[in-house]
Amino acid sequence: MQDILKIIQSRRSARTPYDPARPIGKEDLRQILEAGRWAPTAHNMQNFEIIVVDDQKVLEEIGAIKSTISETFIRENYQQLSFSEEELQRKKVGLLGTMFPLSWRTPGMKPLPEDGVRSRSFPVCPTLLVVLYDPRRRAPASDGDFLGIISLGCMMENLWLEATALGIDFHIVSSLANATVEQEVKRMLVIPQELKIAFTVRLGYATQALSQSVRVRRDIKDFTHHNRYGDLGIE
Ligand SMILES: Cc1cc2nc3c(=O)[nH]c(=O)nc-3n(C[C@H](O)[C@H](O)[C@H](O)COP(=O)(O)O)c2cc1C
Repeated sequence: MQDILKIIQSRRSARTPYDPARPIGKEDLRQILEAGRWAPTAHNMQNFEIIVVDDQKVLEEIGAIKSTISETFIRENYQQLSFSEEELQRKKVGLLGTMFPLSWRTPGMKPLPEDGVRSRSFPVCPTLLVVLYDPRRRAPASDGDFLGIISLGCMMENLWLEATALGIDFHIVSSLANATVEQEVKRMLVIPQELKIAFTVRLGYATQALSQSVRVRRDIKDFTHHNRYGDLGIE
């Protein structure tokens, strides 16, 4: 049995193109979905539906949707950026700016058409999971269905860890849940109007080595508090 902590630590976002000719094996896919199935959810509501898209023509159509990047996204994304590996290592949170186009990391610079309107909404992959939920069915008395949304996160992590254990690359694509793009995806996949896309996942096998750039996390003592807030955390 693999050590769960090792799988957790080796789980990562694989944002490169995946080999479209290397499909996810049927048994592997079942196992990933089985992991999702056993996720904890508030009141065991199991508040998700998943569309498995592996028809290459449909994937091509969804991938070709142009997704516009909002000014709000660029501004708030900028706040999460570091501009060198040293800065990122010092901060221990956020992302390296070089992941993004120059205009996204240069205040005041107008996004070029190719930065602001991407030609594809995601790089190629053999399988896309489209995770849906019904915003009308909230977890009991949960403001904004906060507990329901956490439940979707638990399910996401289960899928991700199982994919990692199977050596399958995984990439969350949130942009397909954005208003206009979401409408187009819903039309293409015949998703009922009342359901919402929570997130989508690219699954596959990366065709190029994943970026070796530094990965950071806060230390345990940075986010723990012992007995009361503000008191020294756990070393
Ligand atoms: C709710 C959620 C949404 C995310 N959306 C995206 C996304 O749209 N695109 C992307 O490349 N990564 C996305 N990520 C991945 C995070 O950026 C990533 O997990 C984080 O930077 C840590 O990197 P790691 O996954 O390689 O450890 C998302 C992660 C979560 C949990």
